[in-house]
Amino acid sequence: MDVLRGYEDFINPSLARTYRFMGLDHAEATAQGAVVTDNEGVQYIDCAGGYGVFVQGYRHPRIIEAAHAQLDLMPLSSRVLVSPRPVELAEKLARLTPGDLTYSFFCNSGTEAVEAALKIARGSTGRSTIVSTEGAFHGKTYGSLSVSGRDLYQALFKPLVPDVVRVPYGDESALKAAMNANVAAVIVEPIQGEGGVIVPPRGYLMAVRQLCDTWGAAMIADEVQTGLGRTGVLFAVEQESVVPDLLCLAKALGGGVVPIGAVVGRPWVWKVFEENPLIHTSTFGGNPLACRVASVALDVIVQEDLPKRARELGSWFLAALRVLAREHPSLVTAARGQGLMIGLELSSPGVAGLVMSELFVRRILAVYTLNNERVIRLMPPVVIEESQLREVLNALGEVLIAVEAVKDDVE
Ligand SMILES: Cc1ncc(COP(=O)(O)O)c(C=O)c1O
Repeated sequence: MDVLRGYEDFINPSLARTYRFMGLDHAEATAQGAVVTDNEGVQYIDCAGGYGVFVQGYRHPRIIEAAHAQLDLMPLSSRVLVSPRPVELAEKLARLTPGDLTYSFFCNSGTEAVEAALKIARGSTGRSTIVSTEGAFHGKTYGSLSVSGRDLYQALFKPLVPDVVRVPYGDESALKAAMNANVAAVIVEPIQGEGGVIVPPRGYLMAVRQLCDTWGAAMIADEVQTGLGRTGVLFAVEQESVVPDLLCLAKALGGGVVPIGAVVGRPWVWKVFEENPLIHTSTFGGNPLACRVASVALDVIVQEDLPKRARELGSWFLAALRVLAREHPSLVTAARGQGLMIGLELSSPGVAGLVMSELFVRRILAVYTLNNERVIRLMPPVVIEESQLREVLNALGEVLIAVEAVKDDVE
């Protein structure tokens, strides 16, 4: 079967052309840990990590086992009787998340978690303005798209959800100037992922918290990408001991096995459900299969201390990347990140594309960030071995030398 041809004929012809142009013409067949195997048996070390999904790696045995067990019982809910599975997961999230984050709403993706958070913030404050940040990425459904920070993905679909104000990311005084008594929420990623792995200045998250307190607005922390260990702590807001009012999760919550999203909220915002408990719902949200898998996915992160692993491997890897960056100053303009959420900023999108293709030739999967094509994300599964990361470094060293030779042709 010509898979790419199938994409061309039945899914998205333009996407198929992009894959072909990048030389990504192999179909995946199976995966384990940090390694993806294609349909010809070729193995790749995955540094894209499903855009941050595979904290626990592909097909972690305990998580697969949980999926099998629940499949044998009841994967989806009757929606009439209550189920113990979402309760187990919500209880665990209440225990693991900081402060008095207590209640969980379950859905099926990151963008749905953000949609829920936006609605809960507006509903619980009775206000309309949402403050978001430039370069942010919160998803592509209407609400999430409206609070995201790049015109490219918005222009075709206007008018968007109204009353959204964008301020520069990491800029406390710009945020202060945007606050007023009609602000329902400030939505922020603790580290911008798709914006190009942007780490804000220390104290920024605390400043967001304080400004929300001053104005009675809800702080929404979008931890869809940063959450659950990737940055070296379980939740990235913990770096500054901040407790948001709403915390969005998805990606790694599914343990690399099922799609699931969640928004966890403090009691005051959950009042939105008091008059009508069905004010926001999802047919598949909180299904027993996803919740059981997610519950074990959390156990794996905690019991294998994956945040510590991300912290240790990440600081060593980032230091090594910075050495490479110094050796190629005309190609690599920055290497930054926290834990195993790392971005390599190249001198132009063309150079980044070339680096990505050359890495693929050397059997390393990596991909640029959606809102900043100059940045290649390095977000491998946190279970990756140090020896595999060394292979990535060696390949990257070769790639940068190769790209240096042809750089002028792509710029
Ligand atoms: C911070 C953040 N929020 C939300 C989303 C949207 O998640 P999904 O693609 O599951 O809808 C993403 C996806 O990359 C993300 O990085």
